[in-house]
Amino acid sequence: MRKPIIAGNWKMNKTIDQGISFVNEIKEKIAGTDAEVVLCPPATMLAQLKQAATGTGVKIGAQNMHQAEDGAFTGEISAAMLSDLKIDYVIIGHSERRQYFNETDQGVNEKVLKALETGITPILCCGETLEEREAGNTNEVVKKQVLAGLEGVPAEKAATVVIAYEPIWAIGTGKTATSEDANTVISFIRESVDAVYGKEVSEAVRIQYGGSVKPSNVKTLMAETDIDGALVGGASLDPESFLGLLDF
Ligand code: PGA
Repeated sequence: MRKPIIAGNWKMNKTIDQGISFVNEIKEKIAGTDAEVVLCPPATMLAQLKQAATGTGVKIGAQNMHQAEDGAFTGEISAAMLSDLKIDYVIIGHSERRQYFNETDQGVNEKVLKALETGITPILCCGETLEEREAGNTNEVVKKQVLAGLEGVPAEKAATVVIAYEPIWAIGTGKTATSEDANTVISFIRESVDAVYGKEVSEAVRIQYGGSVKPSNVKTLMAETDIDGALVGGASLDPESFLGLLDF
């Protein structure tokens, strides 16, 4: 049985005080949820949020990391630095990173390998553009992104990776893929993982949907057979709304 995982991606939002108040506001209300609860704040507050979240059941994730061990990479943060803070997850290859910061499948793969080697669980993102969807290339695009991202990852580690399927046209636009469409693509991703790693791994891997998930549509999405959670931007910023995402 895969444990559902609901992760808030705060992107470039919130100050430290706002982040800590958020954790304080949700911490007592998440008891009893079936889901694993993850918050991915900006790097500036990872340390404080991890501290605020300790003992609450809330896990903390980073939004990005660099693949190199250390060195001359001004502005970047390494896996060892995240591990220093006992960060649990790291989002890798979000479409905004791919689009605005030129992240490639190869770089994404290097980051996935480095995160796993350091003991941090990657949330590996994939998703097609509207043009790619309209051209009928969704499956091909997401399969390439996922398998490239997992290149060289041994089976026992691959089983722990979280995959987030986020159609780019649905991110921050209010347009959600229908739950059936999302489930179809996610099942296909699972089959693609199966073809490389076999059933044990593909049945263990958790695959989230992301793109305009809100309290009002989370139930329908989560009712699908292959959707194991959500990666949520806009609707994760407000505590009430975030708690609503756990009610599925
Ligand atoms: P959204 O963002 O929920 O605001 O669409 C999702 C994401 O980018 O992870």
